[in-house]
Amino acid sequence: MAGHLRLGVNIDHVATLRNARGGALPDPVQAAQVAEGAGADGITAHLREDRRHIRDADIAAIMDAITIPLNFEMAATDEMQGIALSHRPHAACIVPERREERTTEGGLEVAGDQNRLSHFIGHLSDAGIRVSLFIAADPAQITAAHRIGAPVIEIHSGAYCDAAAEGDTATRDAELARILDGIKQAADLGLEVHVGHGLTYDTVGPIAARPEVAELNIGHFLIGDAVFVGLPAAIARMRAAMDAARA
Ligand code: PXP
Repeated sequence: MAGHLRLGVNIDHVATLRNARGGALPDPVQAAQVAEGAGADGITAHLREDRRHIRDADIAAIMDAITIPLNFEMAATDEMQGIALSHRPHAACIVPERREERTTEGGLEVAGDQNRLSHFIGHLSDAGIRVSLFIAADPAQITAAHRIGAPVIEIHSGAYCDAAAEGDTATRDAELARILDGIKQAADLGLEVHVGHGLTYDTVGPIAARPEVAELNIGHFLIGDAVFVGLPAAIARMRAAMDAARA
């Protein structure tokens, strides 16, 4: 029987709204608490190099305010490693990061950077942080993630969700098939599998239905829908869509 499918709620874009005006509101810490109250299994926050949404002080404040795990998204840089080691969040998801991108556009290049990444994640694992690598559903990247000892991967679902939003059903179906193959390959290797990026009520089902998937991380769509229905209602509807698919 499939285990509980965890929902990690990414609250970065509450901080995006806060930063648009300066000041303290809306408060991402409050968003994390509301998400926990609404049934989120974890909170995800990405401290980017340019601090465009989450800021350094938010990390400690969020960790103090919640009882569910924090998944700290971070680039594989010395600066971020130092911050992760000082806070020791439950989990760290290593993502590629380019200053000019609007969001995390692709997966991490693991296959071509195995020595460095293996060393990098070793320090985090030694500190008791559960490391995941955010990668495309590419067999070579999945194999490399396993080879360097990552316990968890998160498969990038952005291309699938973008194609769905554009009504390009052929690409949507091809991208979904790639993700489902990647989930199977990773699970066969013994990796814990997470999926995230761009997921909506409409796209979450086929992925949530896969019993090998342990966690979904969802942010932008939930925060956007929360503008209209409130964050607890948006989280409840996503949870219901996930549960319906899994059942
Ligand atoms: N997972 C990872 C690794 C991400 O980088 C992001 C975006 O910050 C997400 C999940 C959530 O994506 P979205 O905000 O599109 O739901």
